[in-house]
Amino acid sequence: MATSSQSIIQIIDLHKSFGSHEVLSGITLDVPAGSTLVILGGSGSGKTVLMKHMIGLLKPDSGRVIVDGEDIVPLGPEGLERMRRKFGMVFQAAALFDSMTVFENVSFPLREHRKDLSEDEIRALVKEKLGIVGLKNVEEKYPADLSGGMRKRVGLARAIVLGPKIVLYDEPTTGLDPITTDYVDEMILDAKKELGVTSVVISHDIASAFKVADNIAFLYQGHIIDQGHPSKLRHSENPAVKLFLSTWFGKN
Ligand SMILES: Nc1ncnc2c1ncn2[C@@H]1O[C@H](COP(=O)(O)OP(=O)(O)OP(=O)(O)O)[C@@H](O)[C@H]1O
Ligand SMILES: [Mg+2]
Repeated sequence: MATSSQSIIQIIDLHKSFGSHEVLSGITLDVPAGSTLVILGGSGSGKTVLMKHMIGLLKPDSGRVIVDGEDIVPLGPEGLERMRRKFGMVFQAAALFDSMTVFENVSFPLREHRKDLSEDEIRALVKEKLGIVGLKNVEEKYPADLSGGMRKRVGLARAIVLGPKIVLYDEPTTGLDPITTDYVDEMILDAKKELGVTSVVISHDIASAFKVADNIAFLYQGHIIDQGHPSKLRHSENPAVKLFLSTWFGKN
């Protein structure tokens, strides 16, 4: 496959098994800088496993993962730590610290990585990021005081607080009502338009996928069985892709 200097993430012939279970059987993917890639696929197809390789949370059995021009597979803890500063990650479960307030949760990455900032600067940044996700006056609340959708948005605010080049979203809209889903979709689009952020989004939600994606990759039985612009995927001849999409488009 041709490699492009415009790619911010490149995955080349990635293989990963757990025991005798081969989850990824030769994945090759290219994410152009500033674009949004949506990874679609059924439950258990390996979407989260694939995403974890992008940020070095899992090591492949073979294959390469190139982030911003650097193969991250051989990196040790320090190299990984440096590389991960380029990323924001929204985990599948909101994964907030329950014993910390919203302010403490969102400011956490700043305290870890931006020791140069003053308390006032941290306050201002947290407020700004909460504003971007449509929340205000929630700094002193605890996660348990918030709705599921609000918790998800706090997770998003935390993911973007360091101003990452790349944001990985694992099922950002699962379990949200349609209005909040729309809100999260708009946020992904805004982050691209206003901040030039590259996004990789795992989704089950076909409507959201078609709304936010520049490219869609469809993962099935360890392979990317089709990929490209949403309009290409919409007319895919692949039976598994057609079946998956018919669950949505068939009804509309
Ligand atoms: N650490 C692990 N050890 C063993 N097996 C694992 C591990 N992580 C994932 N798997 C297996 O890999 C397969 C893919 O898991 P993954 O979480 O990537 O699926 P997914 O596509 O994200 O599914 P979902 O849409 O339900 O989140 C599953 O069969 C899972 O059980
Ligand atoms: Mg998953």
